Amino acid sequence: MASTLNVEQITRELLVSNEQLKQIQQLLEQEMDAGLGVATNEKADIKMYPTFVRDVPNGTEKGKFLALDLGGTNFRVLLIELNGSQFEMDNEIYAIPQEIMLGTGQQLFDHIAECLAHFMERRDVKQYCLPLGFTFSFPCRQEGLTKAKLVRWTKGFRCIGVEGADVVELLREAIKRRRDIDIDVMAVLNDTTGTLMSCAHKKRDCAIGLIIGTGSNACYMETLDRIETCSHLTNRPLPGQCEDTDPDQMIINTEWGAFGDNGVLNFIRTKWDHELDEFSINRGNQIFEKMISGMYMGEIVRRILVDLTRRGYLFKGRCSNKMIVPYKFGTNYVSLVESDRNGATIQTKWVLNEVFGINEVSDEDVRNVQLICQRVSTRAAYLVSTAVATLLNRMQREHTTVGVDGSVYRHHPHFHNIMVRKIRELTDPKYSFDLMLSEDGSGRGAALVAAVAHRQKLQKLKEAQLAKQLANL
Ligand code: BGC
Repeated sequence: MASTLNVEQITRELLVSNEQLKQIQQLLEQEMDAGLGVATNEKADIKMYPTFVRDVPNGTEKGKFLALDLGGTNFRVLLIELNGSQFEMDNEIYAIPQEIMLGTGQQLFDHIAECLAHFMERRDVKQYCLPLGFTFSFPCRQEGLTKAKLVRWTKGFRCIGVEGADVVELLREAIKRRRDIDIDVMAVLNDTTGTLMSCAHKKRDCAIGLIIGTGSNACYMETLDRIETCSHLTNRPLPGQCEDTDPDQMIINTEWGAFGDNGVLNFIRTKWDHELDEFSINRGNQIFEKMISGMYMGEIVRRILVDLTRRGYLFKGRCSNKMIVPYKFGTNYVSLVESDRNGATIQTKWVLNEVFGINEVSDEDVRNVQLICQRVSTRAAYLVSTAVATLLNRMQREHTTVGVDGSVYRHHPHFHNIMVRKIRELTDPKYSFDLMLSEDGSGRGAALVAAVAHRQKLQKLKEAQLAKQLANL
């Protein structure tokens, strides 16, 4: 039977004070510096990967591009036509079956190539070799715009033989195996970079791209002199090299989901967080992400509900069969419960019935379920705000637009407002910001990065031709 404690008291562990959040800011700042340093990068949890994207679009980007988007629950193929600030987009969603997510790398890339061929056939562009941007939203060590080695899988993927390999190469090989299509891969990028680029297309002061979806991560524009791992890139021409005319900056993919993998966040983690990690397919990894993102938030709630029910605090101590199924309670249901405000109960009751088959609940049960959802999601919003504030303080720009995307941010009824308030509290008042919902960063952003790269490639070809003509004069 339940003791004298109540659900409100037991779940206070989920509350994080501003003092704790400020401590997290300091830790994060240290980890980010470590990630950017040559000598410290190997040990750093936050890897701060250079993306080789040095500028945002200038509005002159033009042409037809293909884009692939792999990284969330679905895979998408897109055909995008850019014309300055105008763009037209056509896309198709393809499912990635669980057996492919956990199968071999070859199966995965063959599936991707098959979807691409199917799409090109349906759009009647199979005979063209179009430039392509590949949004691949997993931690990758990039060695250039078209070379990205997967460091490790996240978010429910675990295909064998891909970690350590160049994903562009794997894509090209899969396409070659088919022999019926050809493509010109211009860029591989993370969804955060796509989000930043897509927002910057509209607002040039966009300098952060943030995802709060199945996973969580952010990228931002960093000055080159702070990126020790890129010290070979500078505007000053090196002996024997031609002048680098790109701006002295680069987008850094922080991969902050891995923050806390070394234990620094244990002071705020609860036993439910530890349990979730223990039973996940990537134990010990993505600790920050596991407290924030859509893949896990509902599962944390479910674990708390099961625990408190078993201890007699909820549903008269009776767990339904459905309640004990891992990942049964998706984060979309947390958002639904959160939309019952000011004493409303209709959504919560519907969710409990729909997901767990529980149809007899007391008013107290409903209030408790709502409290748990509220505490778990507010904690997530606070943590992500803390990280955004850390970036804003670090960049020291007068005003920054933060491009945001992801299912949690889009569908949770209060996430945006909580974030605006918390970021303000944790950011130096000298720096202001706006949160801007990105319009399909993973798709449009991929086309934009590909477009910029394509423009540069054509420019270089032209220059080479000109030089040849001059030499023949
Ligand atoms: C991945 C990131 C990605 C984020 C959001 C994380 O799990 O490691 O690369 O940006 O999810 O999709």
